[in-house]
Amino acid sequence: MVGNLGLLGEFEREAIRHRLFFTPLVEITDACNARCAFCYRRESSPVKKTEIPLDVIKRLVRELKKVGAFHVKLTGGEPLCHPDYIEIVKAVREQNLSVRTVSNGILFTKDVIAKVKKHYISTVISLNAIRNDTYASVMGIDGRFLNTAMDNVKRIKDAGLDVAVNFVLNRYNIDEAPEFIEYWENHDIPVLVARVSPSVDGQNSELLATDKQLYQYYHSVDRERIVKHTYDDPNKCLRCNAGYNMGVLAANGDVLACTILRLKIGNFYKDSLSDIWYRNEEILRYRNMVSDPQAESPCFSCDVNPDFSYPLVQG
Ligand SMILES: C[S@@+](CC[C@H](N)C(=O)[O-])C[C@H]1O[C@@H](n2cnc3c(N)ncnc32)[C@H](O)[C@@H]1O
Ligand code: SF4
Repeated sequence: MVGNLGLLGEFEREAIRHRLFFTPLVEITDACNARCAFCYRRESSPVKKTEIPLDVIKRLVRELKKVGAFHVKLTGGEPLCHPDYIEIVKAVREQNLSVRTVSNGILFTKDVIAKVKKHYISTVISLNAIRNDTYASVMGIDGRFLNTAMDNVKRIKDAGLDVAVNFVLNRYNIDEAPEFIEYWENHDIPVLVARVSPSVDGQNSELLATDKQLYQYYHSVDRERIVKHTYDDPNKCLRCNAGYNMGVLAANGDVLACTILRLKIGNFYKDSLSDIWYRNEEILRYRNMVSDPQAESPCFSCDVNPDFSYPLVQG
Protein backbone atom coordinates (compact mmCIF):
# COMPACT_ATOMS: atom_id res chain seq x y z
CA MET A 1 0.00 0.00 0.00
CA VAL A 2 1.41 3.31 -1.05
CA GLY A 3 1.92 5.48 1.99
CA ASN A 4 0.80 8.77 0.57
CA LEU A 5 -2.43 10.23 -0.56
CA GLY A 6 -2.96 9.40 -4.22
CA LEU A 7 -2.11 11.70 -7.07
CA LEU A 8 -2.04 14.84 -4.95
CA GLY A 9 0.32 13.09 -2.58
CA GLU A 10 2.80 12.37 -5.38
CA PHE A 11 2.47 15.87 -6.78
CA GLU A 12 2.73 17.45 -3.37
CA ARG A 13 5.76 15.38 -2.51
CA GLU A 14 7.53 16.56 -5.65
CA ALA A 15 6.43 20.14 -5.01
CA ILE A 16 7.87 19.97 -1.51
CA ARG A 17 11.08 18.35 -2.69
CA HIS A 18 11.59 21.34 -4.96
CA ARG A 19 10.20 23.79 -2.42
CA LEU A 20 7.46 24.87 -4.77
CA PHE A 21 4.08 26.16 -3.70
CA PHE A 22 2.93 26.86 -0.23
CA THR A 23 1.12 24.15 1.76
CA PRO A 24 0.23 25.83 5.04
CA LEU A 25 -1.01 24.18 8.18
CA VAL A 26 -3.89 26.14 9.63
CA GLU A 27 -4.47 25.42 13.32
CA ILE A 28 -8.11 26.46 13.26
CA THR A 29 -8.62 25.81 16.98
CA ASP A 30 -6.56 25.13 20.08
CA ALA A 31 -9.33 23.08 21.63
CA CYS A 32 -8.90 19.33 21.70
CA ASN A 33 -10.92 16.36 22.90
CA ALA A 34 -7.79 14.27 23.62
CA ARG A 35 -4.73 14.70 25.81
CA CYS A 36 -1.85 13.02 23.98
CA ALA A 37 1.20 13.02 26.21
CA PHE A 38 3.56 13.41 23.25
CA CYS A 39 1.69 16.31 21.63
CA TYR A 40 3.66 19.40 20.66
CA ARG A 41 0.39 21.31 21.15
CA ARG A 42 0.01 19.96 24.65
CA GLU A 43 -1.40 23.21 25.94
CA SER A 44 -4.46 22.46 23.77
CA SER A 45 -7.24 21.52 26.11
CA PRO A 46 -10.93 20.70 26.14
CA VAL A 47 -11.65 24.03 27.84
CA LYS A 48 -9.25 26.43 26.15
CA LYS A 49 -10.92 27.63 23.00
CA THR A 50 -8.76 29.97 21.03
CA GLU A 51 -10.01 29.55 17.50
CA ILE A 52 -9.83 31.39 14.21
CA PRO A 53 -13.29 32.80 13.44
CA LEU A 54 -14.85 31.80 10.13
CA ASP A 55 -14.74 35.35 8.68
CA VAL A 56 -11.01 35.59 9.46
CA ILE A 57 -10.44 32.20 7.83
CA LYS A 58 -12.22 33.42 4.69
CA ARG A 59 -9.86 36.41 4.57
CA LEU A 60 -6.83 34.19 5.21
CA VAL A 61 -7.78 31.78 2.45
CA ARG A 62 -7.90 34.63 -0.07
CA GLU A 63 -4.48 35.80 1.15
CA LEU A 64 -3.09 32.28 1.06
CA LYS A 65 -3.96 32.07 -2.61
CA LYS A 66 -2.01 35.26 -3.21
CA VAL A 67 1.10 33.83 -1.56
CA GLY A 68 0.94 30.74 -3.75
CA ALA A 69 -0.90 28.15 -1.68
CA PHE A 70 -2.58 25.32 -3.57
CA HIS A 71 -3.33 23.06 -0.66
CA VAL A 72 -4.34 23.75 2.94
CA LYS A 73 -4.02 21.41 5.89
CA LEU A 74 -6.61 21.98 8.59
CA THR A 75 -5.29 20.99 11.97
CA GLY A 76 -5.26 22.12 15.60
CA GLY A 77 -5.87 21.17 18.45
CA GLU A 78 -8.59 19.03 17.04
CA PRO A 79 -9.99 20.77 13.93
CA LEU A 80 -13.38 19.11 14.30
CA CYS A 81 -13.78 20.87 17.68
CA HIS A 82 -14.16 24.10 15.69
CA PRO A 83 -17.93 24.81 15.51
CA ASP A 84 -17.60 25.99 11.89
CA TYR A 85 -15.41 23.15 10.62
CA ILE A 86 -17.74 22.30 7.70
CA GLU A 87 -18.06 25.94 6.67
CA ILE A 88 -14.28 26.30 6.81
CA VAL A 89 -13.82 23.33 4.46
CA LYS A 90 -16.35 24.92 2.12
CA ALA A 91 -14.60 28.31 2.26
CA VAL A 92 -11.23 26.78 1.36
CA ARG A 93 -12.68 24.72 -1.47
CA GLU A 94 -14.48 27.76 -2.87
CA GLN A 95 -11.06 29.28 -3.50
CA ASN A 96 -10.11 26.13 -5.43
CA LEU A 97 -7.57 25.06 -2.84
CA SER A 98 -7.46 21.40 -1.89
CA VAL A 99 -8.02 20.52 1.74
CA ARG A 100 -6.54 17.92 4.02
CA THR A 101 -7.84 17.54 7.55
CA VAL A 102 -5.51 16.12 10.17
CA SER A 103 -7.71 14.79 12.95
CA ASN A 104 -7.90 12.21 15.69
CA GLY A 105 -11.05 10.99 13.91
CA ILE A 106 -13.34 10.74 16.93
CA LEU A 107 -15.74 13.44 15.72
CA PHE A 108 -15.83 12.26 12.09
CA THR A 109 -19.41 11.04 12.45
CA LYS A 110 -21.58 9.77 9.60
CA ASP A 111 -23.19 13.21 9.45
CA VAL A 112 -19.85 15.06 9.18
CA ILE A 113 -18.62 12.64 6.53
CA ALA A 114 -21.81 13.14 4.51
CA LYS A 115 -21.29 16.92 4.66
CA VAL A 116 -17.61 16.98 3.67
CA LYS A 117 -17.93 14.26 1.04
CA LYS A 118 -18.94 16.66 -1.73
CA HIS A 119 -15.86 18.80 -1.03
CA TYR A 120 -13.44 15.92 -1.81
CA ILE A 121 -11.24 16.49 1.20
CA SER A 122 -8.41 14.15 2.11
CA THR A 123 -7.85 13.12 5.68
CA VAL A 124 -5.09 11.90 7.95
CA ILE A 125 -6.45 10.28 11.07
CA SER A 126 -4.11 10.01 14.04
CA LEU A 127 -4.71 6.75 15.87
CA ASN A 128 -1.32 5.91 17.39
CA ALA A 129 -2.43 2.50 18.68
CA ILE A 130 -4.19 -0.71 17.76
CA ARG A 131 -5.10 -1.79 21.30
CA ASN A 132 -7.51 0.06 23.55
CA ASP A 133 -5.29 0.17 26.62
CA THR A 134 -2.35 1.57 24.62
CA TYR A 135 -4.67 4.13 23.05
CA ALA A 136 -5.86 5.21 26.49
CA SER A 137 -2.34 5.74 27.78
CA VAL A 138 -1.03 7.42 24.61
CA MET A 139 -4.08 9.63 23.88
CA GLY A 140 -5.04 10.31 27.51
CA ILE A 141 -8.72 9.42 26.98
CA ASP A 142 -10.97 6.38 27.29
CA GLY A 143 -9.53 3.55 25.18
CA ARG A 144 -12.96 2.83 23.68
CA PHE A 145 -12.64 5.99 21.58
CA LEU A 146 -10.16 4.01 19.50
CA ASN A 147 -13.08 1.89 18.23
CA THR A 148 -15.00 5.05 17.34
CA ALA A 149 -12.02 6.51 15.49
CA MET A 150 -11.28 3.23 13.66
CA ASP A 151 -14.92 2.88 12.56
CA ASN A 152 -14.83 6.46 11.31
CA VAL A 153 -11.67 5.79 9.28
CA LYS A 154 -13.48 2.93 7.52
CA ARG A 155 -16.54 5.13 6.94
CA ILE A 156 -14.38 7.89 5.43
CA LYS A 157 -12.89 5.38 3.03
CA ASP A 158 -16.32 3.91 2.21
CA ALA A 159 -17.51 7.44 1.40
CA GLY A 160 -14.81 7.57 -1.28
CA LEU A 161 -12.59 10.13 0.47
CA ASP A 162 -8.83 9.81 0.72
CA VAL A 163 -7.82 8.64 4.17
CA ALA A 164 -4.56 7.60 5.77
CA VAL A 165 -3.90 6.64 9.37
CA ASN A 166 -1.08 8.12 11.40
CA PHE A 167 1.03 6.44 14.07
CA VAL A 168 3.47 8.49 16.12
CA LEU A 169 6.03 6.05 17.44
CA ASN A 170 6.81 6.41 21.11
CA ARG A 171 8.20 4.33 23.91
CA TYR A 172 4.77 2.96 24.85
CA ASN A 173 3.24 2.10 21.49
CA ILE A 174 6.22 1.17 19.31
CA ASP A 175 5.88 -2.55 20.04
CA GLU A 176 2.47 -2.64 18.37
CA ALA A 177 3.49 -0.63 15.30
CA PRO A 178 3.98 -3.74 13.09
CA GLU A 179 0.50 -5.02 14.05
CA PHE A 180 -0.98 -1.57 13.37
CA ILE A 181 0.65 -1.42 9.95
CA GLU A 182 -0.49 -4.90 9.02
CA TYR A 183 -4.07 -4.23 10.16
CA TRP A 184 -4.48 -1.06 8.10
CA GLU A 185 -2.66 -2.42 5.09
CA ASN A 186 -5.13 -5.29 5.13
CA HIS A 187 -7.87 -2.65 4.97
CA ASP A 188 -6.13 -1.02 2.04
CA ILE A 189 -5.55 2.19 3.98
CA PRO A 190 -2.15 3.95 3.83
CA VAL A 191 -0.14 4.13 7.02
CA LEU A 192 1.97 7.11 7.96
CA VAL A 193 4.57 6.54 10.67
CA ALA A 194 6.58 9.27 12.35
CA ARG A 195 8.71 9.39 15.45
CA VAL A 196 7.73 11.67 18.34
CA SER A 197 9.33 15.02 17.71
CA PRO A 198 10.90 16.33 20.88
CA SER A 199 8.99 19.40 22.02
CA VAL A 200 10.92 22.62 22.65
CA ASP A 201 10.29 22.54 26.41
CA GLY A 202 11.44 18.90 26.59
CA GLN A 203 8.17 17.84 28.27
CA ASN A 204 7.77 14.78 26.03
CA SER A 205 11.39 13.59 26.21
CA GLU A 206 10.43 10.68 28.46
CA LEU A 207 8.23 9.37 25.64
CA LEU A 208 10.86 9.13 22.93
CA ALA A 209 11.40 5.56 21.79
CA THR A 210 14.79 4.21 22.76
CA ASP A 211 17.41 3.43 20.12
CA LYS A 212 16.97 -0.26 20.91
CA GLN A 213 13.20 -0.05 20.33
CA LEU A 214 13.69 1.82 17.08
CA TYR A 215 16.26 -0.75 15.94
CA GLN A 216 13.83 -3.57 16.69
CA TYR A 217 11.00 -1.75 14.94
CA TYR A 218 13.00 -1.08 11.80
CA HIS A 219 14.01 -4.73 11.70
CA SER A 220 10.51 -6.04 12.26
CA VAL A 221 8.98 -4.16 9.33
CA ASP A 222 9.84 -5.20 5.81
CA ARG A 223 12.90 -3.06 5.04
CA GLU A 224 11.72 -2.49 1.48
CA ARG A 225 8.74 -0.62 2.87
CA ILE A 226 10.66 1.73 5.08
CA VAL A 227 11.59 5.08 3.68
CA LYS A 228 14.38 6.31 5.86
CA HIS A 229 14.37 9.56 7.72
CA THR A 230 15.44 12.56 5.63
CA TYR A 231 18.73 12.92 7.37
CA ASP A 232 19.50 9.22 7.01
CA ASP A 233 18.88 9.18 3.30
CA PRO A 234 18.57 12.56 1.62
CA ASN A 235 18.16 10.96 -1.80
CA LYS A 236 14.95 9.26 -0.85
CA CYS A 237 13.36 11.77 1.46
CA LEU A 238 12.40 15.36 1.69
CA ARG A 239 14.37 18.33 2.82
CA CYS A 240 12.97 20.41 5.61
CA ASN A 241 10.52 22.80 4.00
CA ALA A 242 9.78 24.96 7.05
CA GLY A 243 9.65 28.60 6.05
CA TYR A 244 9.73 27.72 2.35
CA ASN A 245 6.52 26.03 1.41
CA MET A 246 5.45 25.03 4.88
CA GLY A 247 4.21 27.47 7.45
CA VAL A 248 1.77 27.44 10.32
CA LEU A 249 -1.12 29.79 10.98
CA ALA A 250 -1.81 29.30 14.69
CA ALA A 251 -5.20 29.79 16.36
CA ASN A 252 -3.97 32.93 18.19
CA GLY A 253 -2.92 34.58 14.92
CA ASP A 254 0.77 33.79 15.11
CA VAL A 255 2.49 32.78 11.88
CA LEU A 256 5.22 30.21 12.42
CA ALA A 257 7.65 28.52 10.09
CA CYS A 258 8.04 25.30 12.06
CA THR A 259 5.32 23.33 13.81
CA ILE A 260 7.73 22.17 16.50
CA LEU A 261 10.12 25.08 17.17
CA ARG A 262 7.15 27.44 17.00
CA LEU A 263 9.31 30.48 16.35
CA LYS A 264 7.02 33.38 15.63
CA ILE A 265 7.47 35.08 12.26
CA GLY A 266 4.51 37.43 12.51
CA ASN A 267 0.82 37.65 13.33
CA PHE A 268 -1.97 37.59 10.78
CA TYR A 269 -4.14 39.92 12.88
CA LYS A 270 -1.46 42.60 12.52
CA ASP A 271 0.03 42.10 9.06
CA SER A 272 -1.02 40.64 5.74
CA LEU A 273 0.29 37.17 4.95
CA SER A 274 2.21 38.46 1.95
CA ASP A 275 4.03 41.02 4.12
CA ILE A 276 4.90 38.27 6.59
CA TRP A 277 5.82 35.62 4.04
CA TYR A 278 7.75 37.72 1.54
CA ARG A 279 9.14 40.73 3.39
CA ASN A 280 9.42 39.98 7.07
CA GLU A 281 13.01 39.79 8.38
CA GLU A 282 12.28 36.88 10.68
CA ILE A 283 11.20 34.64 7.83
CA LEU A 284 14.36 35.47 5.89
CA ARG A 285 16.46 34.66 8.97
CA TYR A 286 14.55 31.43 9.40
CA ARG A 287 15.10 30.34 5.81
CA ASN A 288 18.78 30.89 6.34
CA MET A 289 18.65 28.72 9.46
CA VAL A 290 17.04 25.87 7.55
CA SER A 291 19.30 26.09 4.51
CA ASP A 292 22.74 27.24 5.55
CA PRO A 293 24.80 24.43 7.12
CA GLN A 294 27.24 27.05 8.43
CA ALA A 295 24.54 28.89 10.35
CA GLU A 296 24.27 28.26 14.10
CA SER A 297 20.98 26.55 13.78
CA PRO A 298 18.87 24.09 15.78
CA CYS A 299 17.60 22.85 12.40
CA PHE A 300 20.84 20.97 11.78
CA SER A 301 20.48 18.85 14.86
CA CYS A 302 16.75 18.55 14.34
CA ASP A 303 15.22 15.15 14.91
CA VAL A 304 11.89 16.06 13.42
CA ASN A 305 10.34 14.29 10.49
CA PRO A 306 10.18 17.20 8.04
CA ASP A 307 6.49 16.89 7.52
CA PHE A 308 4.16 14.74 9.57
CA SER A 309 2.07 13.99 6.53
CA TYR A 310 4.82 12.00 4.85
CA PRO A 311 5.36 8.38 5.48
CA LEU A 312 8.25 6.39 6.81
CA VAL A 313 6.44 3.36 5.48
CA GLN A 314 5.90 3.15 1.79
CA GLY A 315 5.03 0.35 -0.61
C1 LIG B 1 -1.12 18.43 16.73
S1 LIG B 1 -2.04 17.23 15.88
C2 LIG B 1 -3.51 18.15 15.48
C3 LIG B 1 -4.52 17.37 14.69
C4 LIG B 1 -5.30 16.30 15.43
N1 LIG B 1 -5.66 16.65 16.73
C5 LIG B 1 -4.52 14.99 15.39
O1 LIG B 1 -4.08 14.52 16.44
O2 LIG B 1 -4.38 14.47 14.29
C6 LIG B 1 -1.28 17.12 14.28
C7 LIG B 1 -0.43 15.88 14.06
O3 LIG B 1 0.75 16.02 14.80
C8 LIG B 1 1.05 14.78 15.39
N2 LIG B 1 1.90 15.08 16.55
C9 LIG B 1 1.58 15.77 17.65
N3 LIG B 1 2.63 15.89 18.47
C10 LIG B 1 3.66 15.27 17.86
C11 LIG B 1 5.01 15.05 18.19
N4 LIG B 1 5.54 15.51 19.31
N5 LIG B 1 5.78 14.37 17.31
C12 LIG B 1 5.27 13.90 16.15
N6 LIG B 1 3.98 14.07 15.79
C13 LIG B 1 3.19 14.75 16.62
C14 LIG B 1 -0.30 14.19 15.71
O4 LIG B 1 -0.24 12.79 15.89
C15 LIG B 1 -1.07 14.58 14.49
O5 LIG B 1 -0.88 13.62 13.47
S1 SF4 C 1 -5.46 14.71 19.41
FE1 SF4 C 1 -3.99 15.94 18.22
S2 SF4 C 1 -4.02 18.00 19.11
FE2 SF4 C 1 -5.12 16.65 20.51
S3 SF4 C 1 -3.60 16.15 22.02
FE3 SF4 C 1 -3.55 14.50 20.46
S4 SF4 C 1 -2.03 15.12 18.93
FE4 SF4 C 1 -2.48 16.91 20.21
